[in-house]
Amino acid sequence: MTTLLYGRPPAVFDPPGDAVQTSPLIPGSAPLESVAEGSVDDIMVYAPPGVLERRYTLALALRALKPGGRLDVMAPKDKGGSRLKKELAAFGVEVGESAKAHHRRCVVIRPETLDGLDEAIEAGAPRLVPGLEAWSQPGVFAWDRLDAGTMALAQTLPPMKGAGIDLGCGYGALATVVLRAPAVTALRLVDLDRRAVEAARKNVTDPRASFEWADVRTLEDTGELNFVVSNPPFHDGGAEDKRLGQAFIRKAAGLLKKGGGLWLVANRHLPYEAELNDAFKRVTMVADAGGYKVFEAVK
Ligand SMILES: C[S@@+](CC[C@H](N)C(=O)[O-])C[C@H]1O[C@@H](n2cnc3c(N)ncnc32)[C@H](O)[C@@H]1O
Repeated sequence: MTTLLYGRPPAVFDPPGDAVQTSPLIPGSAPLESVAEGSVDDIMVYAPPGVLERRYTLALALRALKPGGRLDVMAPKDKGGSRLKKELAAFGVEVGESAKAHHRRCVVIRPETLDGLDEAIEAGAPRLVPGLEAWSQPGVFAWDRLDAGTMALAQTLPPMKGAGIDLGCGYGALATVVLRAPAVTALRLVDLDRRAVEAARKNVTDPRASFEWADVRTLEDTGELNFVVSNPPFHDGGAEDKRLGQAFIRKAAGLLKKGGGLWLVANRHLPYEAELNDAFKRVTMVADAGGYKVFEAVK
């Protein structure tokens, strides 16, 4: 019996303990894209909030199921839950819907034939985004545009020197700017999102770059890097969470050697100053414009 899980549904949905995890946001998971068609008995999906990303994931899950296999999918009502039934029905399946804990839950038994899977998979697949001229994929942070925070940091950043790291690299926009400096000897690109890391690999072909699909909070505090750049996340599972950015700041300090510098951009309203002053010897706000602050912090 093969059981898959996508994401982390709340405990009230009784997620299977022995399932194979397939979320791109959980490092080490098996990609749903590589699961053999018609090979799975049961899948529970905690559906992502973006429409293209959600339809892509549902189509991949249905494709992976054996005929007669069961898809159990749920999402918060205001983050796609109320659209789930219609989206599933469009694949030509019968949907049983219920409500629980501010979520909508839909159960589907996979029929022999399905409609529209290929279209949904194509609409959510990785692609070279016109205008951005970079590889990206729906679901990746700011997947089809250059984020304003990243732009603010890129415009302020002087040429870096030595070995560094981009914490939360996304599809590689900031790393591309950092690697324009000839004195950069190595750059690690780290992100929690497998799709972002895969896109960054295609976008950043410079041999000085290396790529890690990892949670920044779990990186070893090597204390040997010359610089850190970061546009840190401030959402965890959809809710604003300043602790994530604060954890990035502490990790940056752990990764840097004495005298090394962190270059960080943040939304103006986020309270990072205390964390920066605690972890670093000298903190300077180098820019404050357009709703973003850019800090240089020296260890
Ligand atoms: C604000 S975005 C910046 C992305 C990229 N630098 C850019 O400008 O396009 C933050 C990034 O951090 C990633 N992220 C979120 N939590 C993370 C974690 N715990 N460890 C590593 N990366 C994380 C997100 O997937 C996202 O790509």
